[in-house]
Amino acid sequence: MARTSRFPGFYKVSVDERRALIADATGTDARDIARSLDGGGLDGETADKFVENVLGTYGLPYGVALNVRVNGHDYVVPMVVEEPSVVAAASNAAKMIREGGGFIAEMDPPLMAAQVQLTGVRNRPAAMQRVLEAREELLALADQAIVGLLERGGGSRAVEVRMLGTDDDAMLVVHVLVDCRDAMGANLVNGVAERVAPRLAELTGGRVGLRILSNLCDRRCVRVHCHVPASALATDAMDGSSVIDGIVNASRFAELDPYRAATHNKGIMNGVDAVTIATGNDWRAVEAGAHAFAARTGHYSPLATWRRSQHDVLVGRLELPMALGTVGGTLRVHPAARLSLQLLGVTSAQDLAAVAASVGLASNLAAVRALATDGIQRGHMALHARSVAVAAGATGDEVERVATAIVEARDITLDGARRALSALLAPRSDRSLPRFEGVDEP
Ligand code: MEV
Repeated sequence: MARTSRFPGFYKVSVDERRALIADATGTDARDIARSLDGGGLDGETADKFVENVLGTYGLPYGVALNVRVNGHDYVVPMVVEEPSVVAAASNAAKMIREGGGFIAEMDPPLMAAQVQLTGVRNRPAAMQRVLEAREELLALADQAIVGLLERGGGSRAVEVRMLGTDDDAMLVVHVLVDCRDAMGANLVNGVAERVAPRLAELTGGRVGLRILSNLCDRRCVRVHCHVPASALATDAMDGSSVIDGIVNASRFAELDPYRAATHNKGIMNGVDAVTIATGNDWRAVEAGAHAFAARTGHYSPLATWRRSQHDVLVGRLELPMALGTVGGTLRVHPAARLSLQLLGVTSAQDLAAVAASVGLASNLAAVRALATDGIQRGHMALHARSVAVAAGATGDEVERVATAIVEARDITLDGARRALSALLAPRSDRSLPRFEGVDEP
């Protein structure tokens, strides 16, 4: 765990200086950071062992969210994401949340369900009863498929039976719940499903259909909440109490409207996915679980909601399933994923889930605050201005100066950036501006 996650001015220093600061704060050798991240964190030879038909690797930016305090501990949180402003927004919102004491997270045990589908079962209620009576036998059978997990304190925990469909499509679906400890658990749970399926066919007199985990892992949820004082939310143009009103209004909109809820949840997943990817986890599984959970009542809903509490405090709450692992799979072989866990200082999957969910709540706060105040484009355009400055030929500290100039002039265009750069370089005659062909204006 990092001693601190507060690094004022972090974005202003060079990449090497940032690495040194993070190495120091997390007790990591700075050379390990360089070794793990240079070259995109994965070499072609290792990538060739991951998937098929490999031609190379595909890089994404690796940043760190700062100011994150969860259950009283500070974390430097690796985020892999291509979208500008996601890392800055999460860090900024985490700073506001920190002023109210940080994130409070509560994690379920890491239970995943193995599903076995049985069709052609004649008397389903009687078959269901036989399966439930064979519970101990089935759990013992399931455990035979996960001996290593048993040694790590996990194992199968419960058997549940559900009746689905009617007449032609009637089926029984048996769930075996497995405590996966620090593994994400997909392979373990699939192994359990395949191990118990033949016995279930005998017990029910049915035919075995699918045998696979469920990604709607609603027994493996994380609940995070935070309190944010109004003073931390104020902007230049709006006092904190009015910002609270705006954020509560945004939350109500998402609660009432699935069209808005999808975008609201996308903002949460900006943070959750970035941490999931940085730690070598299966973000498609996390995404599938999150959206299925959001729709569990039949009405697609926001995963996080915001309310005013007392007089001038904003309270945010987020709940979502989180199937993350800190052992096995990609983690064993991906150097950057291993580095991420080292920087985070987490060893348990539950702690990792708490941090990922907290960054999700921070990302959501950043988005709804921006939407309820200045609108999202101002911040985005400020960041976009940096890319435009680079495209106009700015280098080093010119980038920030040109970006600031074109934002202030409200002229975030390539021509505007070229003019700003010319003005900056005017006293010097040793640089000629590059020619630009085929560069799109924003
Ligand atoms: C953009 O990546 C995410 C937002 O659209 C989320 C939201 O609207 O709440 C800004």
